[in-house]
Amino acid sequence: MNLFYLEETDSTNKYAKEHINEFPDKTVIYTYNQTAGRGRLDRKWSYAGEDNIYASIILKPSDKMQEIYSNLTQYLCVTLAQTFEEYGVVPKIKWPNDILINSKKISGILAEGVINAGILEGLILGVGINLNTKKEILDKIDKPATSLDIETGHFIDKEKFLTKLLDKFCLLYDRFIEEGFLIIRDDYIRRAEFLNREITVKVFDKEICGIAKDVTNTGALVLEDKNQIKHVLLMGDIL
Ligand code: BTN
Repeated sequence: MNLFYLEETDSTNKYAKEHINEFPDKTVIYTYNQTAGRGRLDRKWSYAGEDNIYASIILKPSDKMQEIYSNLTQYLCVTLAQTFEEYGVVPKIKWPNDILINSKKISGILAEGVINAGILEGLILGVGINLNTKKEILDKIDKPATSLDIETGHFIDKEKFLTKLLDKFCLLYDRFIEEGFLIIRDDYIRRAEFLNREITVKVFDKEICGIAKDVTNTGALVLEDKNQIKHVLLMGDIL
Protein backbone atom coordinates (compact mmCIF):
# COMPACT_ATOMS: atom_id res chain seq x y z
CA MET A 1 0.00 0.00 0.00
CA ASN A 2 1.16 3.57 -0.69
CA LEU A 3 0.50 5.90 2.22
CA PHE A 4 -0.28 9.58 1.69
CA TYR A 5 -0.62 11.69 4.82
CA LEU A 6 -2.47 15.00 4.95
CA GLU A 7 -1.93 17.38 7.88
CA GLU A 8 -5.55 18.47 7.58
CA THR A 9 -8.38 18.08 5.06
CA ASP A 10 -12.14 18.56 4.91
CA SER A 11 -12.75 14.94 3.86
CA THR A 12 -10.27 12.27 2.81
CA ASN A 13 -12.93 10.81 0.48
CA LYS A 14 -13.43 14.19 -1.18
CA TYR A 15 -9.66 14.66 -1.51
CA ALA A 16 -9.29 11.17 -2.97
CA LYS A 17 -12.07 11.86 -5.48
CA GLU A 18 -10.61 15.17 -6.61
CA HIS A 19 -7.08 13.81 -6.98
CA ILE A 20 -7.86 10.26 -8.07
CA ASN A 21 -5.71 10.44 -11.20
CA GLU A 22 -2.64 11.50 -9.25
CA PHE A 23 -2.55 8.31 -7.17
CA PRO A 24 -1.79 4.70 -8.11
CA ASP A 25 -3.88 1.66 -7.18
CA LYS A 26 -3.80 0.77 -3.45
CA THR A 27 -3.09 4.22 -2.08
CA VAL A 28 -4.30 5.22 1.37
CA ILE A 29 -4.97 8.89 2.00
CA TYR A 30 -5.21 9.56 5.71
CA THR A 31 -5.32 12.40 8.18
CA TYR A 32 -5.82 12.95 11.88
CA ASN A 33 -7.57 16.27 11.27
CA GLN A 34 -10.68 15.90 9.18
CA THR A 35 -12.91 18.95 9.35
CA ALA A 36 -15.99 17.95 7.31
CA GLY A 37 -16.19 14.16 7.20
CA ARG A 38 -19.02 12.61 5.26
CA GLY A 39 -21.04 9.53 6.11
CA ARG A 40 -23.48 7.27 4.31
CA LEU A 41 -26.91 8.54 3.26
CA ASP A 42 -25.79 12.17 3.27
CA ARG A 43 -24.94 12.09 6.94
CA LYS A 44 -21.79 13.59 8.36
CA TRP A 45 -18.91 11.92 10.18
CA SER A 46 -18.03 14.24 13.03
CA TYR A 47 -14.45 15.05 13.91
CA ALA A 48 -13.63 13.02 17.00
CA GLY A 49 -10.13 14.31 17.77
CA GLU A 50 -6.66 13.66 16.37
CA ASP A 51 -6.17 10.25 18.00
CA ASN A 52 -8.68 8.61 15.67
CA ILE A 53 -8.38 7.41 12.07
CA TYR A 54 -9.87 9.10 9.00
CA ALA A 55 -8.69 7.30 5.88
CA SER A 56 -9.63 6.61 2.27
CA ILE A 57 -8.29 3.66 0.32
CA ILE A 58 -8.03 4.23 -3.43
CA LEU A 59 -8.43 1.07 -5.50
CA LYS A 60 -8.14 0.66 -9.25
CA PRO A 61 -8.93 -2.99 -9.91
CA SER A 62 -9.97 -2.36 -13.55
CA ASP A 63 -11.48 0.37 -15.69
CA LYS A 64 -14.96 -1.20 -15.74
CA MET A 65 -17.38 -1.29 -12.83
CA GLN A 66 -18.16 -4.83 -11.69
CA GLU A 67 -20.76 -6.10 -9.23
CA ILE A 68 -18.10 -7.66 -7.02
CA TYR A 69 -16.72 -4.19 -6.24
CA SER A 70 -19.84 -3.27 -4.28
CA ASN A 71 -18.85 -5.99 -1.77
CA LEU A 72 -15.51 -4.36 -1.05
CA THR A 73 -17.02 -2.48 1.90
CA GLN A 74 -17.96 -5.84 3.41
CA TYR A 75 -14.43 -7.08 2.78
CA LEU A 76 -13.01 -4.03 4.56
CA CYS A 77 -15.55 -4.52 7.33
CA VAL A 78 -14.34 -8.09 7.99
CA THR A 79 -10.69 -6.99 8.03
CA LEU A 80 -11.63 -4.22 10.46
CA ALA A 81 -13.38 -6.73 12.71
CA GLN A 82 -10.32 -9.01 12.65
CA THR A 83 -8.12 -6.04 13.58
CA PHE A 84 -10.37 -5.07 16.50
CA GLU A 85 -10.26 -8.69 17.72
CA GLU A 86 -6.48 -8.43 18.10
CA TYR A 87 -7.24 -5.96 20.90
CA GLY A 88 -9.34 -8.52 22.77
CA VAL A 89 -12.77 -7.03 22.00
CA VAL A 90 -15.77 -8.68 20.32
CA PRO A 91 -16.86 -6.71 17.24
CA LYS A 92 -20.21 -7.40 15.59
CA ILE A 93 -21.16 -6.55 12.03
CA LYS A 94 -24.32 -4.62 11.26
CA TRP A 95 -25.20 -5.16 7.60
CA PRO A 96 -23.80 -3.98 5.32
CA ASN A 97 -20.62 -2.57 6.86
CA ASP A 98 -20.92 -0.98 10.30
CA ILE A 99 -19.01 -2.40 13.24
CA LEU A 100 -20.53 -2.38 16.70
CA ILE A 101 -18.92 -3.24 19.98
CA ASN A 102 -21.34 -3.80 22.85
CA SER A 103 -24.10 -2.58 20.50
CA LYS A 104 -22.36 0.76 19.90
CA LYS A 105 -20.90 1.88 16.60
CA ILE A 106 -17.10 2.10 16.49
CA SER A 107 -16.41 2.50 12.77
CA GLY A 108 -18.16 3.36 9.54
CA ILE A 109 -17.38 2.94 5.85
CA LEU A 110 -18.33 5.18 2.94
CA ALA A 111 -17.64 3.80 -0.55
CA GLU A 112 -17.62 5.99 -3.63
CA GLY A 113 -16.76 5.34 -7.26
CA VAL A 114 -15.31 7.80 -9.76
CA ILE A 115 -16.57 7.13 -13.28
CA ASN A 116 -15.73 9.38 -16.22
CA ALA A 117 -17.16 8.78 -19.70
CA GLY A 118 -17.97 5.21 -18.72
CA ILE A 119 -14.43 4.54 -17.48
CA LEU A 120 -13.94 3.61 -13.86
CA GLU A 121 -11.17 5.91 -12.62
CA GLY A 122 -11.15 4.35 -9.19
CA LEU A 123 -13.00 3.22 -6.10
CA ILE A 124 -12.69 4.96 -2.77
CA LEU A 125 -13.28 3.17 0.51
CA GLY A 126 -13.45 5.77 3.26
CA VAL A 127 -13.22 4.57 6.82
CA GLY A 128 -13.62 6.38 10.11
CA ILE A 129 -12.47 4.53 13.23
CA ASN A 130 -12.97 5.65 16.81
CA LEU A 131 -9.76 4.69 18.55
CA ASN A 132 -9.40 7.28 21.29
CA THR A 133 -12.54 9.40 21.46
CA LYS A 134 -13.59 11.38 24.50
CA LYS A 135 -16.91 10.41 26.07
CA GLU A 136 -18.25 13.98 25.67
CA ILE A 137 -17.75 13.71 21.90
CA LEU A 138 -19.35 10.24 21.68
CA ASP A 139 -22.35 11.49 23.70
CA LYS A 140 -23.02 14.15 21.06
CA ILE A 141 -23.38 11.56 18.26
CA ASP A 142 -27.06 10.87 17.47
CA LYS A 143 -26.65 7.06 17.72
CA PRO A 144 -24.87 5.03 20.43
CA ALA A 145 -21.13 5.14 19.69
CA THR A 146 -17.98 3.87 21.34
CA SER A 147 -14.23 3.97 20.97
CA LEU A 148 -11.53 1.27 21.22
CA ASP A 149 -9.79 2.91 24.19
CA ILE A 150 -13.05 2.83 26.16
CA GLU A 151 -13.66 -0.82 25.28
CA THR A 152 -10.12 -1.95 26.13
CA GLY A 153 -9.36 0.46 28.97
CA HIS A 154 -6.14 1.69 27.39
CA PHE A 155 -4.83 4.21 24.85
CA ILE A 156 -4.57 2.86 21.27
CA ASP A 157 -1.60 3.63 19.02
CA LYS A 158 -3.29 4.85 15.82
CA GLU A 159 -0.30 4.18 13.54
CA LYS A 160 -0.04 0.58 14.73
CA PHE A 161 -3.77 0.05 14.27
CA LEU A 162 -3.67 1.42 10.72
CA THR A 163 -0.69 -0.79 9.80
CA LYS A 164 -2.41 -3.91 11.16
CA LEU A 165 -5.62 -3.06 9.29
CA LEU A 166 -3.91 -2.41 5.95
CA ASP A 167 -1.80 -5.57 6.23
CA LYS A 168 -4.97 -7.59 6.74
CA PHE A 169 -6.72 -5.77 3.90
CA CYS A 170 -3.90 -6.65 1.49
CA LEU A 171 -3.80 -10.31 2.50
CA LEU A 172 -6.82 -11.54 0.52
CA TYR A 173 -7.57 -8.47 -1.61
CA ASP A 174 -6.41 -9.86 -4.97
CA ARG A 175 -8.32 -13.10 -4.39
CA PHE A 176 -11.39 -11.14 -3.31
CA ILE A 177 -11.37 -9.16 -6.56
CA GLU A 178 -11.33 -12.46 -8.48
CA GLU A 179 -13.73 -14.52 -6.38
CA GLY A 180 -15.91 -12.04 -4.46
CA PHE A 181 -17.96 -12.16 -1.27
CA LEU A 182 -18.07 -15.95 -1.02
CA ILE A 183 -14.48 -16.15 0.25
CA ILE A 184 -15.39 -14.05 3.31
CA ARG A 185 -19.04 -15.06 3.76
CA ASP A 186 -18.38 -17.34 6.74
CA ASP A 187 -16.18 -14.73 8.45
CA TYR A 188 -18.87 -12.12 7.84
CA ILE A 189 -21.81 -14.23 9.05
CA ARG A 190 -19.96 -15.41 12.15
CA ARG A 191 -19.81 -11.81 13.31
CA ALA A 192 -23.26 -10.69 12.11
CA GLU A 193 -25.46 -9.33 14.89
CA PHE A 194 -28.63 -8.82 12.85
CA LEU A 195 -29.47 -12.36 11.72
CA ASN A 196 -32.70 -14.01 12.96
CA ARG A 197 -33.87 -10.72 14.44
CA GLU A 198 -36.74 -8.46 13.48
CA ILE A 199 -35.26 -5.39 11.83
CA THR A 200 -36.32 -2.44 9.68
CA VAL A 201 -34.22 -1.61 6.66
CA LYS A 202 -34.37 1.75 4.93
CA VAL A 203 -33.89 1.47 1.18
CA PHE A 204 -33.92 4.96 -0.34
CA ASP A 205 -37.22 6.42 1.01
CA LYS A 206 -38.88 3.04 1.65
CA GLU A 207 -38.79 1.06 4.90
CA ILE A 208 -39.04 -2.74 4.94
CA CYS A 209 -39.68 -4.61 8.16
CA GLY A 210 -39.02 -8.31 8.69
CA ILE A 211 -36.79 -11.04 10.04
CA ALA A 212 -33.22 -11.03 8.73
CA LYS A 213 -32.88 -14.60 7.46
CA ASP A 214 -29.57 -14.80 5.66
CA VAL A 215 -26.77 -13.13 3.76
CA THR A 216 -26.47 -14.51 0.23
CA ASN A 217 -23.30 -15.63 -1.54
CA THR A 218 -23.14 -12.13 -3.02
CA GLY A 219 -23.52 -10.30 0.30
CA ALA A 220 -27.19 -9.35 -0.06
CA LEU A 221 -29.48 -9.36 2.97
CA VAL A 222 -32.50 -11.69 2.87
CA LEU A 223 -35.41 -10.20 4.79
CA GLU A 224 -38.67 -12.10 5.29
CA ASP A 225 -41.69 -9.86 5.92
CA LYS A 226 -44.86 -10.72 7.86
CA ASN A 227 -46.46 -12.13 4.69
CA GLN A 228 -43.51 -14.52 4.29
CA ILE A 229 -42.31 -12.61 1.25
CA LYS A 230 -38.54 -12.68 0.93
CA HIS A 231 -36.79 -9.44 -0.02
CA VAL A 232 -33.21 -9.71 -1.24
CA LEU A 233 -31.62 -6.37 -0.46
CA LEU A 234 -28.44 -5.25 -2.17
CA MET A 235 -28.30 -1.91 -0.39
CA GLY A 236 -29.92 -0.17 2.53
CA ASP A 237 -29.45 0.80 6.12
CA ILE A 238 -30.68 -1.08 9.19
CA LEU A 239 -32.54 1.40 11.37
C1 BTN B 1 -20.86 6.01 7.88
O1 BTN B 1 -20.89 5.20 8.80
O2 BTN B 1 -21.83 6.74 7.62
C2 BTN B 1 -19.61 6.12 7.06
C3 BTN B 1 -18.61 7.07 7.67
C4 BTN B 1 -17.33 7.18 6.89
C5 BTN B 1 -16.40 8.20 7.47
C6 BTN B 1 -15.06 8.21 6.80
S1 BTN B 1 -13.88 9.18 7.68
C7 BTN B 1 -12.77 9.08 6.34
C8 BTN B 1 -13.56 9.17 5.07
N1 BTN B 1 -13.74 10.55 4.67
C9 BTN B 1 -15.01 10.95 4.78
O3 BTN B 1 -15.43 12.09 4.53
N2 BTN B 1 -15.78 9.93 5.18
C10 BTN B 1 -15.01 8.72 5.37
